[in-house]
Amino acid sequence: MNNDLYAVVGNPISHSKSPRIHSLFARQTGELVEYTAIQAPLDDFAGTVRNFFARGGQGLNVTVPFKEQAWSLAERRTPEAEKAGAANTLYRDGEGLLIADNTDGKGLVTDLTRNHNVNLLGKRLLLLGAGGAVRGVLGPLMASGPAAITVANRTVSKAQVLVELFRDEAAGVAFEACGFAVPAEPFDVIINGTSASLQGDLPPLSPNVIGADTVVYDMMYSLTTTTFNQWALDQGAHRVYDGLGMLVEQAAEAFRIWRGIRPQTSAVMDELRND
Ligand code: ATR
Repeated sequence: MNNDLYAVVGNPISHSKSPRIHSLFARQTGELVEYTAIQAPLDDFAGTVRNFFARGGQGLNVTVPFKEQAWSLAERRTPEAEKAGAANTLYRDGEGLLIADNTDGKGLVTDLTRNHNVNLLGKRLLLLGAGGAVRGVLGPLMASGPAAITVANRTVSKAQVLVELFRDEAAGVAFEACGFAVPAEPFDVIINGTSASLQGDLPPLSPNVIGADTVVYDMMYSLTTTTFNQWALDQGAHRVYDGLGMLVEQAAEAFRIWRGIRPQTSAVMDELRND
């Protein structure tokens, strides 16, 4: 019997860890899954998706720069995907309709709460950035019951748009937008969702936002400590995490959606760190 076919689509795609993660999931669960990486032409994401499903593909993960297109292409969206405005998981339902989901937010919250033991209930969160990455995680963060979420962005108007978009879910949460001149006092949790570190840059934050108990999470990951996490350590943070766990947890959630079984993630994270 042939294995069921899955893939991640992006451009570029050669750096993607998803094939490695999903092959470890398949080995662990005994599911008959083959998972490849597909580089779609920048001007033909839709054709690539069509082709993949036409030749019997079962599900796709979608990464930069196609997550918004995946959202538009879908014939149905889960509530998470709907609000995120972007999709990282595609599949066909029983009627053959193309369904879009977004597991990034769940992946982040699972990594924080389960893997790192960070209870978000009643906490004050500072979220840096207002692009697709932050929009994708705001809903699940809000649902985890923080006391306050401050969205800080270089372009304040984009943070304001996000806050208005999620205002209806913010009952009981003090929810506000601002620039990087946020209140200069320690937050409980700071999540970096900007792409500043791709340019080796840092959001210009007051060092006073970091206290000894502040949990710092960079949605980026790298082999060495990320630029943002290094800055936080230099300001006295003790707990800093990168986004590798989020990457593995969002993948586990996609695997669960497709296969009905959720893989164990901790062993997979260990393997990736050792690769
Ligand atoms: P993504 O999908 O990764 O979120 P994006 O939608 O292009 O990508 O958003 C990038 C985010 O990183 C934005 O919040 C951007 O700030 P602006 O909205 O002001 O552009 C932020 N960002 C990018 N480079 C930055 C830098 N050098 N310093 C601070 N913020 C930066």
